[in-house]
Amino acid sequence: MRQNKSLFPNTQSDLPKYLQEFDLTLECKHLISSLPTERGWITDRFYRYQGFWHSLRQIQAVLPCQHHFQAQDTDILLVTTPKSGTTWLKAIVFALMNRFRYNDYTDDNKSTTTLCSQRTLTIFGTHLPLVSLPDSVKNSPCKLVYLCRNPKDTFVSLWHFSNKLRSKGKDMGTLSLTDCFDQFTRGVSVYGPYWDHVLGYWKASFENPERVLFLKYEEMKQQPKVELMKLARFLGRPFSLEEETNGAVDGILKLCSFENLSNLEVNKTGQISATGFDYNTFYRQGKVGDAENYLSPQMIEKLDQVTEEKFQGYVLKF
Ligand code: A3P
Repeated sequence: MRQNKSLFPNTQSDLPKYLQEFDLTLECKHLISSLPTERGWITDRFYRYQGFWHSLRQIQAVLPCQHHFQAQDTDILLVTTPKSGTTWLKAIVFALMNRFRYNDYTDDNKSTTTLCSQRTLTIFGTHLPLVSLPDSVKNSPCKLVYLCRNPKDTFVSLWHFSNKLRSKGKDMGTLSLTDCFDQFTRGVSVYGPYWDHVLGYWKASFENPERVLFLKYEEMKQQPKVELMKLARFLGRPFSLEEETNGAVDGILKLCSFENLSNLEVNKTGQISATGFDYNTFYRQGKVGDAENYLSPQMIEKLDQVTEEKFQGYVLKF
């Protein structure tokens, strides 16, 4: 009987890219031989590099990035802990910065012409912790927007996401919630420890508020207009009164809403070519508090306790 290739992968090339084996550079081979390891969630192992846990693919990618990436003054870096709304933030910032070019949200043709010719900028996304950012980013005046999410929803979202990615592999099985929970609370998750990641950027946003904006998923959900306008001011593209009246703010929020993005055909069927992730893996519930449906009262208490300990002395609450 012939098997369906995508359901029963037999060879490397049948697997999505994120599960395929690949050649390591000498530098990477040398480096990982000295790194602490832990059981991975999607691939076999995590490696601890510069205090944070990474897959092998990430280590291999981060080295050239640290060596060669040259930040430009006008670049914008979107930084997130995985599963904290990266996709949402990317859509919002793209729409915000390009709102005159596509002119979808305002009838003001005059300002369109003026601003279209104004400048070029590049928007980058990364999950790298502050300590691992390339020096050129640290030393340039480019702006960083950091988005985080409460650790309970982040964990549950990550667990679902990892299982979805594993389901494309061969006999990979399902990750146990309790095993992953144990690792997460010990700081062992992709780009974890979660708390160190968040604190690094939170401190940077205090020390350098002109360069780093710290946002929370929950606040974006609760007061989207306020947060979007804050973001626009930070990025040097504030909304004019006229735009506000014309519905530009609401237009961007609607365009980037979970309902709209998750129902686009490209997000139902498309795939990221570099990694092989299906776009639809980035849309699940998009709600605050969904973790309560998965975690026991003991788990919630434990995670709250770890968060309180880690953030003790900082005015950072979820
Ligand atoms: P859930 O798994 O809790 O639903 P990331 O983009 O960092 O991978 O984060 C994915 C999480 O953000 C998922 O959370 C996903 O559903 C949610 N999400 C995706 N698009 C969103 C949007 N436009 N608005 C709010 N949440 C969104």
